[in-house]
Amino acid sequence: MERVLADPGFTDLAGIGELPEKGFVVRSVGETQVLLCRFKGEVYAVENLCSHAFARFDGGRLRGNRLMCPLHGACFDVRTGEPFGPPASRPIASYPVKVEDGRVLVAVSA
Ligand code: FES
Repeated sequence: MERVLADPGFTDLAGIGELPEKGFVVRSVGETQVLLCRFKGEVYAVENLCSHAFARFDGGRLRGNRLMCPLHGACFDVRTGEPFGPPASRPIASYPVKVEDGRVLVAVSA
């Protein structure tokens, strides 16, 4: 369940404790699915939609900062959304994140 904050640009999507040390969680903001994960103590948010053939990352793997698509194996950097190489050639959407009072806030653009 999402909670819209006083800062209209950010949406409260999870408690920091809900994010696993390895792996990710998926939350929704309207029609957009947002994948939340941690890497080296930072929290990152990217769209849960591969830029190659639009598969969801559910069932995929996260190793460090490398998010692998389960459909054809493209890998993306969760810090930037940029692909590491083929078959993907375009980045996935990456969103600004703030952590305040133990809550993960994400600015998901329309
Ligand atoms: S849909 Fe993700 S690599 Fe093809």
